[in-house]
Amino acid sequence: MSRLVVVSNRVTIPTGDAKAGGLAVALNDLMERQGGLWFGWSGGSSTDEKRCNVPAIVDHGQVQYATVDLTPSELELYYNNFSNGTLWPLLHSLPEQMNFDRRSLQGYRAVNQRLSDVLLPLLRPSDTIWIHDYHLLAMAAALRARNVNCPIGFFLHTPFPSPDMLSSVPEAALFIRDLLSADLLGFQTANDAENFSASAQRIAGAARLAGGGLQLGNRQIKVGSFPVEIDPRDFAEMAEENQGSPETERLRRSLDGQHLILGIDRMDPTKGLRHRLAGYRRLLETRKEWSRQTTFLQIAAASRQDVDAYQHLRDDLEGAAGRINATLGESDWVPLRLISRGVPRDAISGFMREARIGLVTPLRDGMNLVAKEYVAAQDPEDPGVLVLSKFAGAARQLGAAILVNPVDPDEIADALDLALRMSRPERQDRWQACWEAIKDASALGWGRSFVSALSRAGSEIPRPA
Ligand code: G6P
Repeated sequence: MSRLVVVSNRVTIPTGDAKAGGLAVALNDLMERQGGLWFGWSGGSSTDEKRCNVPAIVDHGQVQYATVDLTPSELELYYNNFSNGTLWPLLHSLPEQMNFDRRSLQGYRAVNQRLSDVLLPLLRPSDTIWIHDYHLLAMAAALRARNVNCPIGFFLHTPFPSPDMLSSVPEAALFIRDLLSADLLGFQTANDAENFSASAQRIAGAARLAGGGLQLGNRQIKVGSFPVEIDPRDFAEMAEENQGSPETERLRRSLDGQHLILGIDRMDPTKGLRHRLAGYRRLLETRKEWSRQTTFLQIAAASRQDVDAYQHLRDDLEGAAGRINATLGESDWVPLRLISRGVPRDAISGFMREARIGLVTPLRDGMNLVAKEYVAAQDPEDPGVLVLSKFAGAARQLGAAILVNPVDPDEIADALDLALRMSRPERQDRWQACWEAIKDASALGWGRSFVSALSRAGSEIPRPA
């Protein structure tokens, strides 16, 4: 069996913590099965030649982890500026949040080239290579330019925008052409896959093939959707266990019978947090009966703090939270609790089970696994209600949630009111429909389906001898 080489910006080396996130665990399981190499950034930055160019190798079972540092200038141009300041907002169709400068674009492309140089000596001719996410859009082409002929797959964890939106960034055509060096391109939803194909046709002159593929010159490229999944039963079990944990007990006691509304996100401008807080404010202003009867706990773990937009968001949210509590709170009631530290996954699972409402309202999101986790965490006898942005990839599967437009505070307030009043039978019906949509999937199944599609795509594609 061909060795699986996973390439991603972040590399997750197992720590023995059984509660680690599903995606990392799934990739590790896949690599264990067929032998694997996981290559990427160490998470550190240094000016040390060796640490930047000679991968540090850690062996763990059948899997090898190979990581290198970035230089401070690479970190700035590639990670902060271009990946997170240009591509991230562009891919989420939020051009007003996008910065662009040519130096960062060049820095980004240079890191993709350099990582390919470092990876090259670690590769074997029989490998299967799976590249992940928007940090590495130029990598498949960089590897092909170094005569790597193995099957290469690429999976984008974010949404993919319309061709018009994509054209708003200079040199977009370059990235489309680069991606077309892979054999299989995977997206979260059929809509993302369609947007990519339309862009490839319009911007790079690729021809569409029957069955969803593309042809560019004499090469054929498969394009498909592979929605990321969680391990729903494992998460349900963790939530049930943590229902009685000291953290959940303390939270429950502090609520004193009020309904818990819960948001769990990275503090990221795409997550709709400003609008979400405005939605809760609107609820309290227009439906006084929910004062003292609800508490909104928003955990927004600080993220990418060297990027300006993220720092501004943090300031704005802290200001907005302070104003909500100052103007609507009472001497013995604090409506909103905003936490910008990360909270461990097992504690969160218990909070989710406790929450009457899971409030997940990104402006755009590739998938949003929190939405699926909230569903899995519920007690089927007395489930809470998921209020979900219709622009999250997860909404394609979780249509039985209350779907909202995340920029409309009134719509969020109406949805909260509806969820708070909802009868138990209706909550059960909606929950059951959401559970049916996720219950038979698994993170490992997601990984397997991509890799088996890649091996099929690879075997059908003529490659230079
Ligand atoms: C998103 C991206 C991932 C990224 C994660 C955390 O889920 O799709 O590629 O790793 O956010 O962001 P960070 O910048 O901390 O890696």
